[in-house]
Amino acid sequence: MCGIIGYTGPLSAKEIILNGLTQLEYRGYDSAGIALCMESSYIRMLKKTGKVSNLKEASKQIKEVSHSGIGHTRWATHGCVSENNTHPHQAGRVTLVHNGIIENYHQLICQFGLEKKLKSETDSEVAAWILDSFYQGDPAEAIGRLLPLLEGSYSFCIMFEDCPGEIYAVRSVSPLVAAYTHSGALVASDLTALIPYSRQYFVLPEKHLLKLTAYSAKVYTFEGREIMPEIIEADWNMDAAMKHGFSHFMLKEIHEQPEALNQTILPRLTDGIPDFSQDGIPDSLLKNCTRIQIAACGTAMHAGMAARALIEPLVRIPVTVSIASEFRYEEPLIDKNTLVIIISQSGETIDTLAALRLAKNYGSPTLSVVNVKGSTIARESDYVLYTHAGPEIAVASTKAYSVQLAALYLLSCRLAYVKGRFNLDQAKGFTNKLLSSIPAMKEVIKCKNEIQAIGNEILSAADIFFIGRGLDYSFSLEGALKLKEISYIHAEAYAAGELKHGTIALISPGVPVVAIATQERILGKTLSNVKEVKARGAFVILITKEETEISPGLADVIFRIPQIEDRFTIFPIAAVLQLIAYFVSVGKGLDVDQPRNLAKSVTVE
Ligand code: M6R
Repeated sequence: MCGIIGYTGPLSAKEIILNGLTQLEYRGYDSAGIALCMESSYIRMLKKTGKVSNLKEASKQIKEVSHSGIGHTRWATHGCVSENNTHPHQAGRVTLVHNGIIENYHQLICQFGLEKKLKSETDSEVAAWILDSFYQGDPAEAIGRLLPLLEGSYSFCIMFEDCPGEIYAVRSVSPLVAAYTHSGALVASDLTALIPYSRQYFVLPEKHLLKLTAYSAKVYTFEGREIMPEIIEADWNMDAAMKHGFSHFMLKEIHEQPEALNQTILPRLTDGIPDFSQDGIPDSLLKNCTRIQIAACGTAMHAGMAARALIEPLVRIPVTVSIASEFRYEEPLIDKNTLVIIISQSGETIDTLAALRLAKNYGSPTLSVVNVKGSTIARESDYVLYTHAGPEIAVASTKAYSVQLAALYLLSCRLAYVKGRFNLDQAKGFTNKLLSSIPAMKEVIKCKNEIQAIGNEILSAADIFFIGRGLDYSFSLEGALKLKEISYIHAEAYAAGELKHGTIALISPGVPVVAIATQERILGKTLSNVKEVKARGAFVILITKEETEISPGLADVIFRIPQIEDRFTIFPIAAVLQLIAYFVSVGKGLDVDQPRNLAKSVTVE
């Protein structure tokens, strides 16, 4: 949430920061701003509401050269979307950009008597004024005095008027990565802004000070001792973050799924079954657990729901799935025998991180399924199972979801094997079927035109219901979320059998119902529920398998996925639902990749 960047070096700071903000825009796109340290040593600020493109256009007026600066792309938390509230914020000699929330900002305003000084409604400007009041020529000393006062999460990039060419950065919870390259020194909220210049980077440790100069990127403790952060090598390059002819990142990322699945699954197979020895995950971890607790948010939580539907019948141990923002404030019934699985694409979602920390406090072993290498959740978990989706730029998660499912399926198979629920042949059979679901997904992606026609049928709907049972219910949840976030159509997912306990009152003639019916064991029951909504005039879009017999008139539109075993319909179904949402968003002329009010990485509560 909010993207921040700082640069100092021989190149044009304006160009580097604006390009970086474009890369970071998926973190928030309510407004954007830059502050540049000009050759004549004054700091020039420019802010614009709306997209980074507005800022870029306006920045053409800046002709003077600058070699250092900071930038910000905002997802509004404190205060409306306005130029005043847009970062950077300037207070006396201090100019800063901030990501996160300073929870005690109101108390600080009173404590430091800032009421009359503030030009914005932001918590960030409060920090800038306090810092300025502490500043007596030593940035480290002033920042060191500020931090203990702040409650909440933050990352800051800071410039001091009398320190041209120097950028300071500090963080607590909210992420920051940095690199020193031939092109200068950079710091940013995430790697996408650094990757054009360097694949080698480091994560700024919490409550340490980063000092960037044109010649170095150094990390210090607040006692002034320099530390050497661990250098990480990114496993993707700039090429992976380009659209490559696709009209949207989301469409590109949907197409990338089969490849991402292979990358996630194949290196982890030994003798045809999942093996996590290269990931450092011991069999004893899986063998000893008597229950599983999953915590995640949004799409990642839906991947957890699918894992629960798979693991409980397969392994016969209880699996609980919790929304991380709820879990973090509960008193969970977990202990050292509970394996806590944390799922997160970004590895930075603050609620998910808090859930992880809570689980650790309870003494539970933690395993995270994470896409971003070196992210906070990955670093703080006892064990990490990296997914290999590459960078996911569209705010709506697609390929990250599929690879999360893949990782969880692999984990389930190994779990069943080490707990003696599967013999070797059964584990091999399971793995083969998982792999055969990938070509089935490719087949679905090829049916884009057919799915676009389905999307066109529901463009003007006000409400849409998604129904399914068992695994299909977990897919329904994800299908509804995807549609909501990029089409702004109210969508709700229901376990098909639950609909008649109230919600069916909302089914009136023409209301679209997307029914997912791939689980043969309960097919008859699901189809009965479809009949119930059809009888009330619903416009039924039925998604089922190739060979499922459907009586005439049951559905208005039928989409069939290849015939595969129930447990393995995950990937093709994911693709159908993603493409329906995608084409509805396109059909309504909406901003597919950056839907309103959202941001990619949710680093505030
Ligand atoms: O980075 P994370 O996986 O932790 O993110 C969790 C959710 O914020 C995320 O999945 C969100 O629901 C997506 N925008 C959905 O498409």
